[in-house]
Amino acid sequence: MIPNEVTIDLGALRHNFFEIKRLAGPHTRIIGVVKSDAYGHGMIPVARTLVSAGIDYLGVFELEEGLELRKAGCEVAILIMMGIQSDEVSAAVKHDLTPALFQLEIAEKLSRISAEQGKVIPVHVKVDTGMTRLGVCTGDLRNFLKQVLPLKGIQVEGIFSHLAVADQPGDTFTDQQIKRFQEAVEECGRLVGFPEGVHVANSGAILGNKGLDLGMARPGILLYGSPPAQRWAAAASFKPVMTFKSRVIQIRTVPPGTSVSYGRTYMTRQKCTIATIPVGYDDGYSRLLSNNGEVLIHGRRVPVVGRVCMNLTMVDVTGVKGVAVGDEVVLLGAQGKERITAEEIATRIGTINYEVYCAMGKSNRRVYTDS
Ligand SMILES: Cc1ncc(COP(=O)(O)O)c(C=O)c1O
Repeated sequence: MIPNEVTIDLGALRHNFFEIKRLAGPHTRIIGVVKSDAYGHGMIPVARTLVSAGIDYLGVFELEEGLELRKAGCEVAILIMMGIQSDEVSAAVKHDLTPALFQLEIAEKLSRISAEQGKVIPVHVKVDTGMTRLGVCTGDLRNFLKQVLPLKGIQVEGIFSHLAVADQPGDTFTDQQIKRFQEAVEECGRLVGFPEGVHVANSGAILGNKGLDLGMARPGILLYGSPPAQRWAAAASFKPVMTFKSRVIQIRTVPPGTSVSYGRTYMTRQKCTIATIPVGYDDGYSRLLSNNGEVLIHGRRVPVVGRVCMNLTMVDVTGVKGVAVGDEVVLLGAQGKERITAEEIATRIGTINYEVYCAMGKSNRRVYTDS
């Protein structure tokens, strides 16, 4: 079996959840964002851990994910953040999922089908306060709510919005968005009453202490132990949940002037020891790490040399004594006193830690531990 393994530490996940609760305060209920297979960490085990730790709500992107959680026996309230399509209404009602709502046609169909089933379905109205992505524009909210108000079978349980720059502390656009959102909440309060679920704070807002007095928060990346941007790195005591490890499968010593991998982009300048590991871009280890990444072997950082291939990567272990076939290689996580973070990898390849987690977590066999 290929020796690549992503380890998910559910104890660290639980720790991060309690850390978020501490930062958000005792009156803030938490919607744990577990969309996209919990950012590559595995939606079902992550959801089960959060539910047993007492989470109030789970947030997924699409209906399919909500259905998967229900099938796995997850009974907690689930917000479908993308909303639902017309052909998904019956399933959402049947399985008591809470859709984000921003389209009147969906509201009408939800009303009809839930009334037929004798149910009242909670919805969270999605308001666009400046992300220009999804939701009712603030200028249209009054009209929208007036049309939703008479519909039977729907209860506006919540109202929410999403922040565009919460990961950039000091950017006043976050305050503008929160102000617009508060006005939207008041509008909603006047028309349909104040909903119990009012939420805007993602991880950046939680760290920046913004929008937490609204009663709910919707963190994702902090649950997985990472800050939403590099600058928060030292901000709180969160523990990374994911580790990605492999093993050396070949070692050879080569003379100066030897080229390594496709394109011959790396040429040895001296006698070198090159170790090959069975990890490539198909395993979520980006090709942009060619001649750019570092991995840990024997607790030391060693550089990636040459191009990262689809399934193989070479590293220069010349400076590390006694490296042998079968030795552990850490691509993400800690070994000895060294650690490679998703933020480090993201910075090296010009992306964000979210993408690193999704790519590595979804492409590899995952094993779960509980520290
Ligand atoms: C609507 C919504 N809410 C909350 C989150 C969680 O954001 P973060 O992971 O930055 O906390 C996301 C993530 O993309 C999102 O799309």
